[in-house]
Amino acid sequence: MIAMHILFVTLTLGFVLKETRAWGYKNGVLHNSIWLEQAAGVYHRESRKGRYQLTYKEAIAVCKFEGGTLATYDQLEAARKIGFHVCSAGWFHKGRVGYPIVKPGVNCGFGKVGIVDYGYRLNKSERWDVYCYNPNSKECGGVHTDPIKVLQSPGFPEEYPDDQICYWHIRLLYGQRIRLHFLEFDVEDDTDCLSDYLEIYDSYDDIMGFAGRYCGYELPDDFLSTGNVMTLKFRSDSSVSAGGFQLQYIAVDDSVHNNDTDIYV
Ligand SMILES: *[C@@H]1O[C@H](CO)[C@@H](O)[C@H](O)[C@H]1NC(C)=O
Ligand SMILES: *[C@@H]1O[C@H](CO)[C@@H](O)[C@H](O)[C@H]1NC(C)=O
Repeated sequence: MIAMHILFVTLTLGFVLKETRAWGYKNGVLHNSIWLEQAAGVYHRESRKGRYQLTYKEAIAVCKFEGGTLATYDQLEAARKIGFHVCSAGWFHKGRVGYPIVKPGVNCGFGKVGIVDYGYRLNKSERWDVYCYNPNSKECGGVHTDPIKVLQSPGFPEEYPDDQICYWHIRLLYGQRIRLHFLEFDVEDDTDCLSDYLEIYDSYDDIMGFAGRYCGYELPDDFLSTGNVMTLKFRSDSSVSAGGFQLQYIAVDDSVHNNDTDIYV
């Protein structure tokens, strides 16, 4: 399992750094993906089964489950204008499908900037991701900018509920890195962590920078980000819960020991 994690990190790191280099930084924040807290309540979700698995009906249910609704085209565009960039087509209001592109890329959006619009789908059984709208804070997850903070599974120290999907986006100042340190860890154990799991992404979304998936009882090792952003994703399925987890993250000043300008410029 640990070997697999290391392999994943090695495979994804080159790509992440390359991608990071292509982005700039703004207001003291390295901007390598989405600025969710500024994205006017719009966020992207995929099915628990993976990418492009949601029918229109299921997409509505995913947003509703978290107290939101499908984003409208205007909400998605408003979010895009302030930096919301996701390279995955999803359902939004009234059965339209598309995705928001901020930075043109060859492999995403056909070099176009704007909402890549697949139009109103006649066939609502097609499977895509989804764009939800929920301006209110969620019960779990959220955007965190404090230099030090304790994060925990929903309901901790009680057992976490079934059917949770939580995203914690940590965003610190440019020049800082994020060190995760686990305090408690008890997530339903299975061989490949398919049922319940916590995932770490060394980026500001859950698409790039996958750095590990964890379940079971062992405290994961400390993790140090390469940049000033990180995403944690927690999922629990519809059966068997466990004690949950608690971790602390702390800002590590990176100005001295890793002045690798090539990574950030
Ligand atoms: C609608 O889309 C689904 C999923 O792609 C496909 O299986 C089905 O055949 C389509 N139905 C029609 C009428 O095209
Ligand atoms: C990083 O290195 C560059 C070039 O050597 C230098 O100009 C810059 O001041 C350094 N930054 C920090 C924070 O040390």
